[in-house]
Amino acid sequence: MRVIVSDKDQPVLDRQLGAFSAVDKTDANDFIERLDEMHALDVFRAYKKFTFDLMNIASGARVADVGCGTGEDVSSLADLVGPSGQAIGLDLSSAMIAEAQKRHADKGNVSFLQASSEGLGLPDNELDAIRADRVLIHVQNPEATLAEFIRVTRPGGRIVLSEPDMHGFWVASDDYGTTRLLVNEIANSCVMPYLPRDLWTMMRDHGLKDVRCSIQTLTSSDIKAVSKVLDLSLVVKMAVSGGLVSEERAAKWGDDLKVRAENDRFAAALSIVVVSGTKA
Ligand SMILES: C[S@@+](CC[C@H](N)C(=O)[O-])C[C@H]1O[C@@H](n2cnc3c(N)ncnc32)[C@H](O)[C@@H]1O
Repeated sequence: MRVIVSDKDQPVLDRQLGAFSAVDKTDANDFIERLDEMHALDVFRAYKKFTFDLMNIASGARVADVGCGTGEDVSSLADLVGPSGQAIGLDLSSAMIAEAQKRHADKGNVSFLQASSEGLGLPDNELDAIRADRVLIHVQNPEATLAEFIRVTRPGGRIVLSEPDMHGFWVASDDYGTTRLLVNEIANSCVMPYLPRDLWTMMRDHGLKDVRCSIQTLTSSDIKAVSKVLDLSLVVKMAVSGGLVSEERAAKWGDDLKVRAENDRFAAALSIVVVSGTKA
């Protein structure tokens, strides 16, 4: 299991991707802004809709979104369950729960709770469906989290997980050596960067039925969105200050991306591993 360290085992700055594991110890506004940036992207909306479909939500259902962040997906789930249903958002971060409440509490069929994914505080067999989106790579014990998701789901209920394969992120570049170093920095800031590759097996090991795995690929030609979501300028700064890459090489790498963007030749992609299963 990885803790939050860089390849050189130096603590990372608190705004890197991996700090989503402890948002309350950081400037939460920075993370809220980055989540808003992601939610505004069509490619994010598309794979999220795919995960909602996998939940098999009927009108009147009781569903949960764990690691709900600002609660945008809880609001979408509330629309799907309708007025007689209930959509519950849970998050470890009190700042995220406060923001979600501020944005969505006026909907009568949503509620938000501060809780860890490993101990949701819900009764056994309570939910028709549960999901977590881009959360388990930030969690210390994903096995305990999945066991908890199964506990709170009724027999026949659905469990859907979607996690980004951060080590598989790519961006077109003239210098793939530097790209690889920087992608490693970003991925290794997460507690469990390789977890997405084990989720399919993990679900079967936990006795779930109808287990399916698919890859949703997010592509982008928008350098601004990608830089913001991954906080690329900070990552480059850290890689330079940590001695991973020289200032000159980092500047050349960044200039290449800028020139590509100016000439409509910027290209990046990220795979989201989506797994789903039914409680026996
Ligand atoms: C990358 S954000 C994703 C937020 C949301 N799912 C979305 O798609 O916008 C990760 C979220 O997981 C939360 N989180 C991290 N570790 C958690 C844990 N152990 N239990 C519950 N939530 C956690 C963070 O506070 C953050 O809101």
